[in-house]
Amino acid sequence: MDQDTLNIASRDHDPAGEATPVRVLQITDCHLHADPNWTLAGINTQTSFEWVMSLAEQFRESIDLLLLTGDLVHDASVAGYTRLKQQIERFGVPACCLPGNHDVPEVLSTELQGGLVSSPKTVRMGNWVIILLDSTLPHSEGGHLSGQELERLQETLQAYPDSHVLIALHHHPVLISSAWMDKMALDNPEPFLELIEQHKSVKGVIWGHIHQTFESDYRGVRMMGTPSTCIQFVENQDSFGLSTAPPGFRWLELGADGRIDSGIERVDALPPGLDLKTAGY
Ligand SMILES: [Fe+2]
Repeated sequence: MDQDTLNIASRDHDPAGEATPVRVLQITDCHLHADPNWTLAGINTQTSFEWVMSLAEQFRESIDLLLLTGDLVHDASVAGYTRLKQQIERFGVPACCLPGNHDVPEVLSTELQGGLVSSPKTVRMGNWVIILLDSTLPHSEGGHLSGQELERLQETLQAYPDSHVLIALHHHPVLISSAWMDKMALDNPEPFLELIEQHKSVKGVIWGHIHQTFESDYRGVRMMGTPSTCIQFVENQDSFGLSTAPPGFRWLELGADGRIDSGIERVDALPPGLDLKTAGY
């Protein structure tokens, strides 16, 4: 497990001797492309990503980790991953990546590797462990956790019983009241939810995929979905629909006591070009 574990040094304690919280920015569903002029539903995903990263700049000083949760490069091209790596490297804090349905996991983990950028299975920071899962299924938009991933989750939870745990994956493990999107949820959430219920160390689960904000509580575990850095989908709607909400990211403050503070930040305006007549995604 060791070569797959990233250890990030704890930050300083505050003047009262309390450990400062671990601060994470979740960046997701960038849908970059080999062609930087490529658009998704009329939006240039490269421009949109840059706008969101400019907003993230304002938080950079206090950030310990960027966490990128899949659909990073729409065409899974080496050129797309190379450009993404340069941009997140420039941000200047460790960045960890996991794949979504539009990525090719092997290409992602090969290209998003080196310097501050990596695709580890586990991140350790202060009192916290972040477990990154691969929920992709080849040639499918939906998600699945293989027996191997579930076993790894269980082993990691058993290995760190005294840490607080945040789990990150691409697909949503709970339904979000959106029939078309819920068809592409994790198709085997039961063993996953059982494991997090058995391990009280798990404090939160974050994902991408749904291109919208989602918040709920599953038996004391905070469940969080996050807007894309490009197009957004209409919330609580059974059929496909594009929202005019601007893109953004999620910030998380992981307290030494296990508490999670979190919220969404969006850029001021939607980048130009959204084609609301787009029929699907
Ligand atoms: Fe996506």
